Amino acid sequence: MNREAATTPIDRLPPSPHLLVTGGAGFIGSAFVREILARGDRTRITVLDKLTYAGNRGNLASVEAAPAQAARLRFVEGDIADASVVGPLVAEADAVVNWAAESHVDRSILDPEAFLRTGVIGVHVLLEACRVEAARAAAGERRGMDGAARPAPRFLQVSTDEVYGSVETVYSREGDALDPRSPYSAAKAAGELLARSYFVTFGLDVVITRGSNTYGPFQHPEKLIPLFISNAMDDQPLPLYGDGLQRRDWLYVTDHAGAVEHALHHGATGEVYNVPGEAELPNREVVAELLARLGKPWSLVRSVADRPGHDRRYAMDGSKLRALGWQNAVSFQQGIGETVDWFRANEGWWRAIRSGEWDAYYARQYSARLAGGVAAGSPGGSPRGAETVAAAAQAHEPAPELG
Ligand code: NAD
Ligand code: TYD
Repeated sequence: MNREAATTPIDRLPPSPHLLVTGGAGFIGSAFVREILARGDRTRITVLDKLTYAGNRGNLASVEAAPAQAARLRFVEGDIADASVVGPLVAEADAVVNWAAESHVDRSILDPEAFLRTGVIGVHVLLEACRVEAARAAAGERRGMDGAARPAPRFLQVSTDEVYGSVETVYSREGDALDPRSPYSAAKAAGELLARSYFVTFGLDVVITRGSNTYGPFQHPEKLIPLFISNAMDDQPLPLYGDGLQRRDWLYVTDHAGAVEHALHHGATGEVYNVPGEAELPNREVVAELLARLGKPWSLVRSVADRPGHDRRYAMDGSKLRALGWQNAVSFQQGIGETVDWFRANEGWWRAIRSGEWDAYYARQYSARLAGGVAAGSPGGSPRGAETVAAAAQAHEPAPELG
């Protein structure tokens, strides 16, 4: 099926589709919206976003400031777990792209509940609304503005490489068993399994993507790359968890957004597609790269107590999506350069986020860790690595506070 699709990519959406994009005020969802609307085709988008601490309507400012783009965008503030909001929006949509989630692993360790509410109940509410529309389509009751029959909405669930759990050596493939190990990844796995069950049981047109660690402009400064850029710009310590040799595969934000749009249009019903970044690096190397670009010293880096259950490595095989005709366009060198430049040029954006609720979060997540932190050795690793951090953690730090 993939080989066939590579030669004849079928578009599975109608021309000039109306997309319901949930979480479209967040980091990657807003990039998805900006990219599509800037292209100037006839796609219309309704964003449904709860505007949690991570949502920021300002992420869509460029769209809202351009009349031709703004005319094709509607913004609805609301919760994907609220059926009364979701039902009418899904009724109008040709496809639902579900970016909405609580997205930070560390926060899922501090407070898991919101992850389940959005990642499981929210996904269920969206799927139920799609099921209602599928029934209406089957009964000939689902019609466009021109009165023509419309098919049931397509549902794309944005998932993550973290559902595979920590993989020591292999490259995860779509058929591999799921082994999520944090409340975040467990909620994401639950959400995508639920979506798959609605394909198998009710025949919904479901597609799932699993993206790798994403980075770029507009990323909330709680995540590794923007946190370390913003801390370094202020000459604040950079809290590197454990030995810092955990490996992630870095995917530039526009490549993630583009891959999801490609799968939305061309993915086969019921299929899962990995979206790797093809830039697997240990955290130490990422941090060294950031510091070099910012002209800041390695001495800012502190080895601190590790994240509980910290996954050692994520890496995926991307051949299935490539066979569908997609390939990434942005190398890590280019993407990290653009990211550093953007955070330097947009201090106002991240300083506004690093205020208010931020201070309490930062203290809860990092105060004890930084108090017990030690020098992080050299960028390549440290003879004082994991053992010293563990010893420092035992000597100085309480276990991370839960809930
Ligand atoms: P983000 O935290 O920046 O944005 C999430 C958005 O969802 C926010 O705008 C927030 O207000 C909104 N939201 C949260 N709960 C909601 C609810 N109940 N109803 C409506 N809106 C709600 O996240 P992100 O980094 O842009 O990630 C987007 C999606 O991509 C998530 O599903 C995440 O799991 C997935 N993903 C992210 C990465 C990554 O590295 N960031 C990698 C793979 C997959
Ligand atoms: P993060 O950006 O939180 O993404 P994820 O947990 O989804 O991979 O973290 C990326 C890596 O960086 C991960 O191995 C944890 C590590 N990390 C730190 O060492 N220190 C930090 O303060 C943060 C936020 C992350």
